[in-house]
Amino acid sequence: MVGCCSRMNYYLAVDIIRYDEKLLIEAFKGLGIDVIIIKVDSELLPLIDSRTLSDSLVVMRPISAYNAIYSAVAFESMGALTVNSSRTLYLCNDKILTYGCLIREGLRIPKTCIALSNTSLQSVSGRLKFPLIDKPPIGSWGRLVSYVRDSVDLKMISEHREFMGPIIKTHVIQEVVGLGKDIRCIVVGDDVLGCMMRRASADEWRSNVALGGTVENYPVDSEVEELVIRASRSVGAEFVGVDLLVGDGYYVNEVNGVPEFKGFIKATGIKVHEYLVKYLVSSSRR
Ligand SMILES: Nc1ncnc2c1ncn2[C@@H]1O[C@H](COP(=O)(O)OP(=O)(O)OP(=O)(O)O)[C@@H](O)[C@H]1O
Ligand SMILES: [Mg+2]
Repeated sequence: MVGCCSRMNYYLAVDIIRYDEKLLIEAFKGLGIDVIIIKVDSELLPLIDSRTLSDSLVVMRPISAYNAIYSAVAFESMGALTVNSSRTLYLCNDKILTYGCLIREGLRIPKTCIALSNTSLQSVSGRLKFPLIDKPPIGSWGRLVSYVRDSVDLKMISEHREFMGPIIKTHVIQEVVGLGKDIRCIVVGDDVLGCMMRRASADEWRSNVALGGTVENYPVDSEVEELVIRASRSVGAEFVGVDLLVGDGYYVNEVNGVPEFKGFIKATGIKVHEYLVKYLVSSSRR
């Protein structure tokens, strides 16, 4: 982070204040700082090259991915530092853009193809073997992530998607890696705070907590640490959740630019909000 001044103002950009944001507000208070809340969806945000927000750091926490990206662009235009930056938020929001960064960094992702139309989707069996996972490039909480057993499933999924919006018509289709579990690691700056294993509930194969997945602490070794830091750096992030799938070793599945951490605290006991706020304050004052 490029620090600038001794006297910084701290903002928290939100659309809804969840438990996680309340913890961040408390953590700022703990350092004697009154963080200023900006409800990004209730204010007009000027796109203007000004210094109105120089000496300001904005922690980006909107739930809506586009609210986060667009408001970060506005804050940056007014001279603020944003965590994460609009560029990082943009890259993390789209799994295809994230995969591009991870591949350029030399990191392993599940064997993946993208199909921009149903016509190209139908030829996937020439590249990847069933069963497969199909997902849209943009989405969260496991929504529209599908397990594809064979060409009959594939046809059904492509028909369903045909009736949805334009981005949803793009398919990210990939090999199955370690079904039923994944590892979420939280990174602040150059530190991996910790990791947790998420396991799918009995009637699910997706391990999202939003779908009933359970969480437990997962020990960080030097391999995980290096991998996760490289994944975070590949998208220029300062605070991210890196998700790993486990097969014959680790595969990076995604990088989340506005990570939720309530469940992570429960699994690991690590006070993410306190680490993050200390990091932001010390690095922006440097
Ligand atoms: N290639 C894969 N192999 C095995 N399981 C997968 C694969 N891709 C996804 N999954 C499972 O499906 C879940 C949801 O998929 P993914 O994480 O890619 O999207 P998402 O959770 O909707 O996105 P976000 O984490 O941004 O909310 C994962 O947590 C994992 O359990
Ligand atoms: Mg996920």
